Amino acid sequence: MDDPAHKAPSTDMLELACAAMARAYAPYSRFPVGAVVRGESGALYAGCNVENAAFPLGSCAEASAISAMIMAGERRITEVLVIGKGPALVSPCGGCRQRLHEFANDTRPVHMCDTDDLRCTVALGELLPLSFGSANLSA
Ligand code: THU
Repeated sequence: MDDPAHKAPSTDMLELACAAMARAYAPYSRFPVGAVVRGESGALYAGCNVENAAFPLGSCAEASAISAMIMAGERRITEVLVIGKGPALVSPCGGCRQRLHEFANDTRPVHMCDTDDLRCTVALGELLPLSFGSANLSA
């Protein structure tokens, strides 16, 4: 439990993600998702999924939370929380794992929650092993 990747998320992080999920625009999937990323400053940035009648144009909650962080002038993520409803675990999609990898180290915790509570926490590197990133391009 000393591993920072497996510490429980704060209540404010969970509540912010829940509030973001409530604002999702998901008329097509009817699957609202909320995401919160914590920047190095400690500040929290929330996002929700925003769908479109032209389906591929929809965007994920994680992408929206990352945009909010970048707009605030931060560049590194220290913690991630994703929340969605239903019995299946809501874990970041493949594309969002790559998006998170751009701004977070492999050891950073990703909390996956449902509307009741935290379901599990894993390190980002467990979600995206053998990742491709900026280090590849600078080699
Ligand atoms: N979704 C997210 O917002 N994040 C994910 O990591 C998984 C999927 C959204 C996209 C779409 O609006 C809905 O969930 C159903 O796929």
